[in-house]
Amino acid sequence: MRREIRLHRDHEHLTESVAGALEHDIGACIAARGICHLVLAGGQTPLPLFDLLADAYREKISWDRVHLFWGDERYLPYESPHSNYGVARDRLIRHLPIPAENVHPMPTDADNAEEDAAAYERLLRPLLGPRPRFDLILLGLGVDGHTASLFPDSRALIERRRWIMAVDSPVLPPKRLTMTLRLINGARNVHFLVVGRDKAEALQCAFGQRRESQPCPAKAVEPSRGNVIWWVDATAAEGL
Ligand code: 6PG
Repeated sequence: MRREIRLHRDHEHLTESVAGALEHDIGACIAARGICHLVLAGGQTPLPLFDLLADAYREKISWDRVHLFWGDERYLPYESPHSNYGVARDRLIRHLPIPAENVHPMPTDADNAEEDAAAYERLLRPLLGPRPRFDLILLGLGVDGHTASLFPDSRALIERRRWIMAVDSPVLPPKRLTMTLRLINGARNVHFLVVGRDKAEALQCAFGQRRESQPCPAKAVEPSRGNVIWWVDATAAEGL
């Protein structure tokens, strides 16, 4: 695994650099394999990136060769303002020339999160094969060190077989679906997007600079055959 940190003075400059890197990486994936499997992050940090991709990068990327997935989802209707898919649909997807069949949101309509988690895994397995290897996974970092919906002390952190799990969240909304480390750590490239002073302690923890006992699920993202790039702004990186 190659791990790299790329420091930017602010969210805007970080977003511009990530967009440029995605254009390059997506192009390389398509050149090599004819398709790019891209996993989007939830939360607020990626929103300016979605806006930029939907505008300046609308024509720069061959979106018809890109398949979109989600690393986690709040177990809510897509119409909820807190739905990761719903927000990405409104801020990114509806502006792109991407076929509907290339967009794979996590289902949240079975009124049973475990059923929907299993359904998403059934969708992924024929697309990815027995050794899942996403081309690009975007992840955020929570102030408690979580990533996707892998929260401290979650049973999902020790799951070695399942790719998708329904989990309880210590922050609202209480029920989520998440990719497990088994799936995330098969990736070719993982990009963490971390902005804000409130993430400084979690970032130190992710880089092993806090007490050993302090849990930090993001630290377990270590793709054995992949690269991890930490895109951080100056305020989040203050403690490094
Ligand atoms: C979610 C996430 C979560 C998020 C972090 C950072 O559904 O909330 O996927 O892991 O990426 O909590 O969130 P912010 O970008 O809003 O700080």
